[in-house]
Amino acid sequence: TLRVAVFISGGGSNMVSLLDDMARAGHAGAPCVVLANSADAGGLARAHERGVPTVVVDHRPFAGDRPAFEAAISAALEPHAPDIICLAGFMRMLTGGFTDQWAGRMLNIHPSLLPKYKGLHTHARALEAGDAEHGCTVHEVTAALDDGPLLGQARVPVLEGDTPDTLAARVLVQEHLLYPAVLRRFAAGNHEMLILQS
Ligand code: GAR
Repeated sequence: TLRVAVFISGGGSNMVSLLDDMARAGHAGAPCVVLANSADAGGLARAHERGVPTVVVDHRPFAGDRPAFEAAISAALEPHAPDIICLAGFMRMLTGGFTDQWAGRMLNIHPSLLPKYKGLHTHARALEAGDAEHGCTVHEVTAALDDGPLLGQARVPVLEGDTPDTLAARVLVQEHLLYPAVLRRFAAGNHEMLILQS
């Protein structure tokens, strides 16, 4: 069984979808720890409820010293010995020093159809651009932000009258389907691109 660490910053709805799928039959992965960069992350309680160990590595004392923050993350992970890291709404950028160490073993979900709209405010940007379609992407993490080999995408229509919030909610439904499906395949050794069409 591959040991999966999940990194969160907020409510952790994607993390819950990953943990709940790993609890179902036939999964090659099992959660070993949920790591948050803030004790306020609502997802910590949801991981705890599911019996998964949690750890907080607060980024704030490191005051922009990313390598030192990452060294603290590595130290916190060590006793849990993860094989795979899933970033799930983890809102801190990671340096090449960390991403290289986890190359081919770290996944991220991003709320856009990459390569479109790397970074923040993806839903507002898709609406501003007048896109007819939007969605989410799971990819392998490399040193470049929201880059790296694509592992899966789910598309949703943009509807008349959408706001960033209504569009985000429609995308999130797909995130909760896409990320578990990609992790399940990835843990089993299948790195081919998965396309979900809603
Ligand atoms: C998700 O929509 C995820 O795709 C996005 O943050 C949200 C986290 O929600 N991630 C990013 O924007 C990464 N830059 P969650 O905490 O409920 O999973």
